Amino acid sequence: MIFSRDRRPAGNSGTAPGRWQNDSGERRALPRFAVSATEELTDTADPRAPFSADKARLALSEALSASQPVVSAERFAGRHDTLAALITAIEQQRAHVVLYGERGIGKTSLIHVFAAVAQEARYLVLYGSCGVAARFDEMFLAFAGRIPLLYHADISPTADESEHRRSFADLLDKNHVGPRELADVLTQVVGTRVVLVLDEYDRVADAEFRRNVAELIKNLSDRAARVQLILTGVASNLDELIGFTPSIRRNIVGLAVGPMPASELDEILVQAEQASGMTFGGPARALVTRMAAGSPYLTRLLGQKAAARALDEGRTDVTPDDVTGGTEAVLAEWNAGLPRRVQAMLALPAVQKDWGLLIAAARASGTPDGWFTATDVAAELADGSPSGAGKALTGFSGETDLFDRDQSATGEPRFRFRTQGLAQLLGLSAALARAGR
Ligand SMILES: Nc1ncnc2c1ncn2[C@@H]1O[C@H](COP(=O)(O)OP(=O)(O)OP(=O)(O)O)[C@@H](O)[C@H]1O
Ligand SMILES: [Mg+2]
Repeated sequence: MIFSRDRRPAGNSGTAPGRWQNDSGERRALPRFAVSATEELTDTADPRAPFSADKARLALSEALSASQPVVSAERFAGRHDTLAALITAIEQQRAHVVLYGERGIGKTSLIHVFAAVAQEARYLVLYGSCGVAARFDEMFLAFAGRIPLLYHADISPTADESEHRRSFADLLDKNHVGPRELADVLTQVVGTRVVLVLDEYDRVADAEFRRNVAELIKNLSDRAARVQLILTGVASNLDELIGFTPSIRRNIVGLAVGPMPASELDEILVQAEQASGMTFGGPARALVTRMAAGSPYLTRLLGQKAAARALDEGRTDVTPDDVTGGTEAVLAEWNAGLPRRVQAMLALPAVQKDWGLLIAAARASGTPDGWFTATDVAAELADGSPSGAGKALTGFSGETDLFDRDQSATGEPRFRFRTQGLAQLLGLSAALARAGR
């Protein structure tokens, strides 16, 4: 389908888009929003309604937003097995759960959708996001403040109205909110089950916070409280996230949130088609999902860029060329976001010569803290030796300082990309190169 390319802002007719003064120097109208914020975007475009490029753009930016987690079941693709395992752990095993996986793999989205289905089953799910400066007492006092006192064993459901406004926080001494005090209070929950979510648990820097959480899990489990915790965070295994805590191991179920299979990533693009009225042909979809390599984040980002290119050219069908062009645009944006100095370093012949090693380092850097060794890099190379990789990495840790090098621990030195986003850029550029072959 072809549509008119005329997307000029209202009151701005007859002038080229993107220029705010015409040739005679008159001031031009300001850019305007295309669609009112109050207008409802229906999920399935009405087939009788005329196609509107502006609305398609808006629908795509919503269906393929790469910057926000999914909050509704309609936008959630795949992951049925992980969601089922999470439900089983909470409902049947009555366990506390640790959800771990790579950055951007979909942990928060899974939690949001889990919360919706748990609420349908009358669970009280409370969400908290941890920051570097998160404090145990503040966070759990806030949780307790959101549990109505009506769920307390000693409060009758017919209690007067003043009781209705109170919460479990009213039972705590604000100056002493430790794991024991909390467990004492939370074991009194009746009439529902409470799930406390601590998202981004990997960001918690305070060792005492983590010790307190482990202690709380132990106390709640020992006393069969109707309160369960879900911790989520960037990690490649359970121990990385909760440390070695044998005392709580049997009370915890660890669930990995892994890469999504291509068929599930495909669902994301199908949803976008339905929302926007655009079509990704089979080859275009296959190209996006191949380059996204299991990442729902990349599927959305590349899908959106590709569709935007088709719209720019007045088409509603997205082709493999749009996907390639859209990916190049993403890479150019990421590259422009790097410090100038790093951009210049990447163009050096010495660096270009070792491009394969940089790509291998990018793959090896997918650890939660980003550190990796020359052995890790060599394992990613078809013909690499640890000593060769170590020499090259050390070479790029001096004057050409692409990597930090750390020799503080005994044994092999560790390396880490100095610039945020560089590893991701290298990974995607390698995927694009592979796709072109
Ligand atoms: N099942 C899914 N279906 C559709 N889109 C998804 C799905 N899971 C994640 N996404 C998309 O992928 C991106 C990253 O998801 P999300 O924020 O949930 O990941 P995360 O693992 O919590 O990331 P972080 O490690 O940064 O906290 C978001 O744009 C989100 O909308
Ligand atoms: Mg998250």
